[in-house]
Amino acid sequence: MSQSLKDHWLLRPDVDYLNHGSFGATPRCVLAAQQEWITRLETEPIEFLAPERTLLPKLDQVRNRIAKMVHAAAPDIAFVRNATDGVNAVVRSLPLQAGDELLVTNHGYKACTNAVRYAAERCGATVVTANLSFPITDSSEVIDSIAACLTPRTRWILIDHVTSPTGIILPVDEIVQLAHSRDIRIMIDGAHAPGMLPLNLRQTQPDYYTANHHKWLCGPKASGFLYVRDAWQDEVQPTVISHGANSDGYGESRFQSNFNWPGTFDPAPILALTTALDFLAGLHPPTRDDDLTTLMRSNHELVVAGRRVILDRLQIDEPAPESMLGSIATIPIPAWKQRTGEEINAIGQLLRSEHRFELPIFQLNEHLGCLRISAQAYNSLEQYERLASVLGDVRW
Ligand SMILES: Cc1ncc(COP(=O)(O)O)c(C=O)c1O
Repeated sequence: MSQSLKDHWLLRPDVDYLNHGSFGATPRCVLAAQQEWITRLETEPIEFLAPERTLLPKLDQVRNRIAKMVHAAAPDIAFVRNATDGVNAVVRSLPLQAGDELLVTNHGYKACTNAVRYAAERCGATVVTANLSFPITDSSEVIDSIAACLTPRTRWILIDHVTSPTGIILPVDEIVQLAHSRDIRIMIDGAHAPGMLPLNLRQTQPDYYTANHHKWLCGPKASGFLYVRDAWQDEVQPTVISHGANSDGYGESRFQSNFNWPGTFDPAPILALTTALDFLAGLHPPTRDDDLTTLMRSNHELVVAGRRVILDRLQIDEPAPESMLGSIATIPIPAWKQRTGEEINAIGQLLRSEHRFELPIFQLNEHLGCLRISAQAYNSLEQYERLASVLGDVRW
């Protein structure tokens, strides 16, 4: 990518930033839009922020755009701070009973799994973990692992659309079908998905879907959405219960009303999302209606090429097929096998301080030292080539 495109982001030029996946990175124009919204708010706080004045139409504009992008009905979409918030709201609202089972996977995001454990423990329910393999050769392995853990007591499943530690796309449509064939509700944690993958919730038909705006849509932190199927909307409470629980004028349905007002808040991160969508769509014109297909394909091709360079340099077999990758990829490094957690942390520290890379270095299943690369429009193949040569040259 050209330097001028890189200049759209504030990222320091002396660091190869290969970690868009963790917190995203927000372009300058989006930060400017966020500031503009804050300025407008502070010019007339009541007029701007009071739900009975002009807040709701502004939120609805963003809601409509998200709904269109993910192929869902706008009234089924609520705003949350982030995916962790979305998972908490859903799992802590479930009417669980002692003996019920909730299914998660060993590739799940720890914060969200913690929320599931909390909700289960309070009701005497149990959390069952499906063990997904990694390296992996075929997405059918995921379906088999999950199917093997279902019992007549399974009430609810949480799967990631794109797994955080292993960076693989799970076959969500098939897993939803499997769950529904057993009368089990299913939530998809799509923290990484919007902006990385095309989404069609009408086709996927999850019971619940949550995602972040601040990762691959490059929105300001912190903002995300929660989709809840119409049938369960009356049950789901936000993590903060506020006026909307029993007041009129906070939204068109009780669901909307509950989520529109988490107490006094800053809506600028939500409102600036439209600028982020315009910006991303404009990177690969001509595009229409928030069509990010070209950007997503370009990021996918870059991460695949970056992964290939590293795999070839270190002579590693591919740990997951390209078809299971979006724009992040995890690589287990043979030289880091059996290293202690402390040693793995020290390697990450060295890569940061000495070699000027920012990327996650971690242990999977307490023995597999891994790194994860991301590819966003500001990255270039040379960055992965430099990483490959550092990984190949240094004695780890
Ligand atoms: C699958 C998954 N879920 C949840 C999260 C948490 O995101 P947040 O901290 O924005 O809630 C992440 C973050 O990387 C993730 O990968």
